[in-house]
Amino acid sequence: MNLLLDSFEFGLHTQIHYGTGSLNNLVEVLNKHGYQNVLICTDPGIAQSGILERLDTILQKGEIKYTVFSEVQPDPTLEVVETVKQLYLQNGCDALIGIGGGSSIDTAKGASAAVANPGDLGQYEGKNKLPNRGPDVIAIPTTAGTGSEVTHATVLKDTKRQYKMGILSQHLHPKAAILDPELLTTLPRGLAAITGMDALSHAIESYTSNQAQPITEALGLHAIRLISKSLRPFVARRTDLEAASQMMLASTIAGAAFIWGRVAAVHALSHPLGGRYKIPHGLANSILLPVVMDFNVSTNLEKFKEIAIIMGENVDGLSQREAAQRAVHAVKQLVDDLDIPATLGANKVNLSPEEIQVVAQEAFDSGVALANPKIVTVEDLKKILEKAL
Ligand SMILES: [Fe+2]
Repeated sequence: MNLLLDSFEFGLHTQIHYGTGSLNNLVEVLNKHGYQNVLICTDPGIAQSGILERLDTILQKGEIKYTVFSEVQPDPTLEVVETVKQLYLQNGCDALIGIGGGSSIDTAKGASAAVANPGDLGQYEGKNKLPNRGPDVIAIPTTAGTGSEVTHATVLKDTKRQYKMGILSQHLHPKAAILDPELLTTLPRGLAAITGMDALSHAIESYTSNQAQPITEALGLHAIRLISKSLRPFVARRTDLEAASQMMLASTIAGAAFIWGRVAAVHALSHPLGGRYKIPHGLANSILLPVVMDFNVSTNLEKFKEIAIIMGENVDGLSQREAAQRAVHAVKQLVDDLDIPATLGANKVNLSPEEIQVVAQEAFDSGVALANPKIVTVEDLKKILEKAL
């Protein structure tokens, strides 16, 4: 960007409480804001992991009243959001806690929006269409990937349309986020790998997007650095607290980067793939990221060379073009090292030409790819999908 000609905005409105064991500070955080009766929004995996029991002990000791909804599924739907909203109202709660992966946090954000805004949430799809701020959300991530704990976005599925939609609004940012790396240690290996790749997608897409600006670039680059160093050891051994800490931070930093620097063609395509074929978000991104980088690499050789270097590639003696291309190689190698099946076919998703057309069109219409560094057409998106088959 040309700093003499362009202007930009940046803000991070979520209070971050980072620290190993910081879940124990939850009551302090709740008391600080005066919440006494919270609705906990989580998924069955967290309910079974022992984290919910810990939460129960902490809240009882702190004399905080609470209700639990633990049925959040991946790609949360508008119906689930409505259920959480009703539970919130019936129990007279004064705040929501989203604890889990992006789905639990996004559901809590969605329910908060539904409490304060009339009608179907679908009408608020897009940027800054939500009129009112709802009750506060405290986000407690248990995966290192989504970044939802600091973003002012929620992605929800409209089951009638088989469509994943994004609502972006300053009313959606969580009031506070508790980042406790200990919570990552029970994450299953496969989930650790694909959620980590989601964070890397946020970092690389925002760093190279046409909306990138100096602050998001700095955050994006640092997130790429942390993920390159820590994702392999974290996936290999989730109890490695140093790797877990770095991944927890990288995920949040990448979230702060992409909420302003935006995501692009990778996310434009992974949303319809998730909505229509239930491909987990991080998995779709792992498959698409190297293909989209290859498509984009010529638009900014310098930035892609920087990514290659940060990811540990040796670029000595290479031309600018060759060095930039090494970034694509580095991401492919990472996906391979993490044992992520690198194509849609390897994940038993076989798209017909007609389905490719539908997914590409939906990705294009969402507008998410508008931030892509290279202008993308429906035909380009089709070609990217064909390479990912
Ligand atoms: Fe993502």
